[in-house]
Amino acid sequence: MSNSELNKTAVTAAPIHDLIAERWSPRSYDATHTLGKAEIVSILEAARWAPSANNVQPWRFSVAERGTDLHAKVVAGLSGFNASWAPAASAMIVVSVQRTNEDGSPRRISWYDAGLAVANLSLQAQSLGLYTHQMAGILHDDLHKSLELANDLEVLLVVTVGKVAPASQLQGPAYDREVADRTRLPLSEIVLHGNI
Ligand SMILES: Cc1cc2nc3c(=O)[nH]c(=O)nc-3n(C[C@H](O)[C@H](O)[C@H](O)COP(=O)(O)O)c2cc1C
Repeated sequence: MSNSELNKTAVTAAPIHDLIAERWSPRSYDATHTLGKAEIVSILEAARWAPSANNVQPWRFSVAERGTDLHAKVVAGLSGFNASWAPAASAMIVVSVQRTNEDGSPRRISWYDAGLAVANLSLQAQSLGLYTHQMAGILHDDLHKSLELANDLEVLLVVTVGKVAPASQLQGPAYDREVADRTRLPLSEIVLHGNI
């Protein structure tokens, strides 16, 4: 099945922006595609301009383009399933968060802030014709060590960025998930209160 035959558009109860409706998380990436510098800067800028509590901006990014030493380190820090497909993406971005405030007290909202930054990043990539896939299935401590991150940083997740390739280059569970319908809980289940 070629990628163009996959219909991943969200089925919605009311119209939503195309960028949101069309975004999905592929596992089949074009391993010959490379990102331009302007594209990388553009998606990082989108992340940079995310809102954060007290404007602390507790997110940090390590951009590993395929073929680099950093990329090899990130590949070594993926779980088995993710390691089967993610290395083909043009780049993987390791997202880390600051765990503490300046005075050393715990900063419990950092993970939420970083999620907002990654959402921005994902939609900006989408607007450039690129696709992202977030992965929590990673070896967090190994990545912290191999990337020589500061003590107050915690590795949150890794995001792939690249061009989609035909699903047929995948096998097994990765293929099955690639061609599966995208689903969500209905609004009636997630909206607990409100007249909708
Ligand atoms: C925080 C987070 C962690 C995820 N971790 C993984 C992962 O380790 N491996 C994987 O294949 N997909 C992972 N995903 C992708 C989700 O399974 C996917 O986003 C979800 O099924 C919805 O599909 P969609 O993004 O195509 O709409 C993750 C997504 C998020 C947001």
